[in-house]
Amino acid sequence: TSTYVPYKVKDIALAEWGRKEIKLAEAEMPGLMALRAEFGPSKPLTGARVAGCLHMTIQTAVLIETLVELGADVTWSSCNIFSTQDHAAAAIAAAGIPVYAWKGMNEEEFNWCIEQTLFFGEDRQPLNMILDDGGDLTNMVFDVYPELIEGIKGLSEETTTGVHRLYDRMKNGTLHLPSINVNDSVTKSKFDNKYGCRESLVDAIRRATDLMLAGKVAVVAGYGDVGKGSAESLRGAGCRVLVTEIDPICALQAAMDGYEVVPMDEAVSRAQLFVTATGNVRIIKDRHFKAMRDKAIVCNIGHFDNEIDMAWLNENYGHTKSQIKPQVDMYEVEGKEIIVLAEGRLVNLGCAMGHPSFVMSCSFSNQTLAQLELWANSEKYENKVYVLPKKLDEKVAALHLAHVGARLEPLEQEQADYIGVTLDGPFKSEMYRY
Ligand code: NAI
Repeated sequence: TSTYVPYKVKDIALAEWGRKEIKLAEAEMPGLMALRAEFGPSKPLTGARVAGCLHMTIQTAVLIETLVELGADVTWSSCNIFSTQDHAAAAIAAAGIPVYAWKGMNEEEFNWCIEQTLFFGEDRQPLNMILDDGGDLTNMVFDVYPELIEGIKGLSEETTTGVHRLYDRMKNGTLHLPSINVNDSVTKSKFDNKYGCRESLVDAIRRATDLMLAGKVAVVAGYGDVGKGSAESLRGAGCRVLVTEIDPICALQAAMDGYEVVPMDEAVSRAQLFVTATGNVRIIKDRHFKAMRDKAIVCNIGHFDNEIDMAWLNENYGHTKSQIKPQVDMYEVEGKEIIVLAEGRLVNLGCAMGHPSFVMSCSFSNQTLAQLELWANSEKYENKVYVLPKKLDEKVAALHLAHVGARLEPLEQEQADYIGVTLDGPFKSEMYRY
């Protein structure tokens, strides 16, 4: 156990600005605020020591303070070296919550930050809950600090890539804790991944490049939830969008949504803008870089930077790299200039401010409900991956309706009987895909 460092952020003087933005975000996060109103008085997370590893943004600050209001002790790190919003981290540190995160850290610092979150306070009490995004904290606990597992009640995981890792572990017999897959709540992946990226992808490209997007040809690799939002984001800006897919169902969806579906080898010479959204590896690699047009812009909105073969690019063309501004670099490949955003890491958090608060309120309401459930009822679960019950998913959605002026049709008993549901839900079977 390391010695206690109360917090480490870029500049604590940014706290006042961060606090003002947190206040604004709270007004856009009705789900989290409703959970505070419901559970704040009874403090059901009393005794919980939640270590969180999730992009340290303004929205995440509202999540952290919700967990605290529900009674938890919380420590925090960011799950990406570029995704911290330094004013958000400063405000959290100033509120007395141990946070270890700043924008533009290196890999070594990244691991150091996660490590700081494992032990709480001067007396170095170990964590007893994990809240993760991408699985780096989970991996550190399972692989480096296995002695801590016994004291932990469970973990909740935010994103597709982290959830993949959990299912792999379940298969291999190396999943050591009850785990809630937050990503596959409908009110998470069908909202954050899709509508979130629809807002934040183009925002990131514009902040990074100031490029006129209308009229450009862009390619989106992957037409899952993130790809769907990303393609729509670019189309909304006036791009002609090509989509690449390996899955015939998603390929057909893309075609029916009006996109041209082509292999990357064909797209590569036509597109000016490349966005990877697969959660898979080496989607853009050597031969693609070599075939690109001059001034092509390459970025990734999936969780890890290996979607773009940055290792190859840096090994072979690293000597040509020149920084235009932080998180915007130019390489020269075969006489052509290629612009890479956020060093291939997720561009919406590296080059912009991530998703807007409202959609993150949906995601983080699921996170909060997952933490509540695991803390209260951990012994009811095996070391497997679970999703939250549909009723809670519907509750999260319901908490967000009024804010956008949406009012439900009251379901009548006769109608409920006819479609085989009860008046207060769930309103769909488990098979329904939305
Ligand atoms: P998904 O599984 O819904 O979609 C991925 C799609 O990529 C699938 O349709 C799959 O068939 C396709 N694909 C796989 N290999 C491919 C290849 N070689 N070429 C073309 N397509 C290929 O996953 P989802 O939820 O869309 O997430 C994608 C990534 O984005 C994950 O890493 C996830 O963690 C991350 N993510 C990032 C967010 C952000 O704010 N930047 C928000 C949410 C998720």
